[in-house]
Amino acid sequence: MSFKVAIVGATGNVGREMLNILEERGFPVSEVVALASRRSQGTEVSFGDRTLKVRALDQYDFSDTDICIMSAGGNVSKEWSPKIGKQGCVVIDNSSAFRYDQDVPLIVPEVNPDAISLFTRKNIIANPNCSTAQLVVALKPLHDLATIKRVVVATYQSVSGAGKEGMDELFTQTRAVFVADQVDVKKFTKRIAFNVIPHIDVFLDDGFTKEEWKMVAETKKMLDPKIMLTATCVRVPVFIGHSEAVNIEFEKPITAEEAREILREAPGCQVLDKREDGGYITPLESAGEDATFISRIREDSTVDNGLSMWIVSDNLRKGAALNAVQIAELLIERGLIQPKKKAA
Ligand SMILES: NC(=O)c1ccc[n+]([C@@H]2O[C@H](COP(=O)([O-])OP(=O)(O)OC[C@H]3O[C@@H](n4cnc5c(N)ncnc54)[C@H](OP(=O)(O)O)[C@@H]3O)[C@@H](O)[C@H]2O)c1
Repeated sequence: MSFKVAIVGATGNVGREMLNILEERGFPVSEVVALASRRSQGTEVSFGDRTLKVRALDQYDFSDTDICIMSAGGNVSKEWSPKIGKQGCVVIDNSSAFRYDQDVPLIVPEVNPDAISLFTRKNIIANPNCSTAQLVVALKPLHDLATIKRVVVATYQSVSGAGKEGMDELFTQTRAVFVADQVDVKKFTKRIAFNVIPHIDVFLDDGFTKEEWKMVAETKKMLDPKIMLTATCVRVPVFIGHSEAVNIEFEKPITAEEAREILREAPGCQVLDKREDGGYITPLESAGEDATFISRIREDSTVDNGLSMWIVSDNLRKGAALNAVQIAELLIERGLIQPKKKAA
């Protein structure tokens, strides 16, 4: 059984990673179609040792495509995902356009796989925000053991989370600083080279940013609406890999050793936690890896049943492309999708 899969945004950071991951995991494809805007029509992207010619989204007919992975931003998704879904093609969407829609499941397969069955309402499944995906992978096993009451998180998010323009800006500004050239600010609100910016996405009325609000809303939707969460999201001059300093208060007692043991066995998690120089993960080492890495697990004696930890993952993989491909695999594993075209 194999599926015709379209990748919308195939020329972007996430789209390219998506093609790598489909190939790496041997996803059962009968055909892969690379789609982007008209600007990229006719350019080429790699899929394993093959080269795919990019086609324009607005000229493509989805009627014989089984799965569409959308990675072209919220506006494109709002316009196209419902139309594609109505053509009987299941959309897995990386943008925030449908994440908070009650008729669209928001899925991290390690966390809430059973919610996927809701997808038939709109034929759309949402992929969470990159910083939430890695957080809930680590929180889920701890919540099951000791019930999380409150989470305080500060993120250190890489520039690839802002797309290929974000990566270009860090590169260009860094070079400009070294050659004493003029440093131009375009994508970010302040210079990102040799700096950190405590602002991701737009400001809301209460002073939080939309990125911070997304972490609250998505954790509640996927894990437990009773969990209280407060976030500060910060952009840092790192190309790939989001890091998070996380403080968690539980209802029941839990030791650092118990947390380490449970996280060692948990799906998608890898504990790297030696209390010595270098005995922890950094974003550089997480790039290109599938795992959510957890380090620096320690008890917080300033609250009842408190733990602090450091969580790092490749934002283009678990935060986007890998999670989307895992959702597609879950659809197949559960027999929720059949190829439209039977193999000859
Ligand atoms: N980066 C992350 O860590 C991350 C994590 C989670 C979710 N996401 C989400 O994933 C999506 C893509 O992110 P990215 O980092 O890959 O961005 P990106 O590198 O800027 O790529 C954007 C892609 O969208 C395509 N596109 C733009 N306008 C289009 C249109 N009108 N029709 C068809 N295709 C269009 C672009 O094609 P052209 O080359 O033709 O312009 C390009 O392929 C966003 O929704 C983002 O929020 C990203």
